Amino acid sequence: MADLGTKIGIVDFENPIFVASGTYGYGTEVSELADINDLGAIVTKSITRYPREGNPPPRIVETPSGMLNSIGLANIGVEAYIETMIPLYEELKTPIIMNIAGSTEAEYCEILEMTESASSNIAGYEINISCPNVKAGGMEFGVDCDLTEQLTSRLRKLTERLLIMKLSPNVTDIAAIGIAAERGGADALSAINTLVGMSIDTTNKESNIHFGFGGLSGPAIKPVGLACVHKVYQAVDIPLIGIGGITCANDVLEYVLAGAAAVQVGTANYRDPDVGNSIIIELDTLLDKNNMGSILNLIGKVQLGS
Ligand code: SIN
Repeated sequence: MADLGTKIGIVDFENPIFVASGTYGYGTEVSELADINDLGAIVTKSITRYPREGNPPPRIVETPSGMLNSIGLANIGVEAYIETMIPLYEELKTPIIMNIAGSTEAEYCEILEMTESASSNIAGYEINISCPNVKAGGMEFGVDCDLTEQLTSRLRKLTERLLIMKLSPNVTDIAAIGIAAERGGADALSAINTLVGMSIDTTNKESNIHFGFGGLSGPAIKPVGLACVHKVYQAVDIPLIGIGGITCANDVLEYVLAGAAAVQVGTANYRDPDVGNSIIIELDTLLDKNNMGSILNLIGKVQLGS
């Protein structure tokens, strides 16, 4: 058996296959459709200070090798999350990473503080500074180095749990944003969130997404995700979590070689909510077959021409 174990900050994970925010609900709902106990970690959908209905439909559309979404951070809000979801995690072996979204720095801090003061066994936080689908917040932070550093350092002071900043590909220089988050005290970075995209129904000339733009995910964005991970890997010393178009073990290996210590499977969960478990088994076989040993020894080992 290959050694699939990995480490992000102070947390050891049994394997590097996490499921991505927004594709696995609050974590436990999917247990009716998949065995959620063997995943490396579950990242929850984004939790905001107050409940949100999200954007009006249509807010999801399939595209070639991908999907556009403009959900608009629909969720139950942090109070209900603490009351109804966090207790369910007591039964769960898989580490939970809570994804937080806010529209101001104070709001991000308040959500994190409220969660810290509730008793919970969550492993850490992924901070969404990269949602392309809301007017206020999110992306505002993720496109600005100073705001990213300032927000990260405020959050850092509020928790000793894992603090992961989720980066946007919709920037000029993703490495600079990664450096800013590292300076602010992030334990790790996840990359990438979705790319801004559009889809139009030519029969009636209407946009297939209510507000026109949405976030593109799925295999179509894998080359972009790999490039972003490698650029950030070359610029920072903290671990990276690769996201974007992962559907099989070979995709995971590509992300690891590009510099990721773990990955998040996202859009593929819509087709098969158990795909994460299939990938874990497939990854074990792939590493064994190629005598590759352990995940930790493969991180960033891509060979570039001179
Ligand atoms: C959404 O809820 O619109 C998607 C969240 C995100 O892309 O960060």
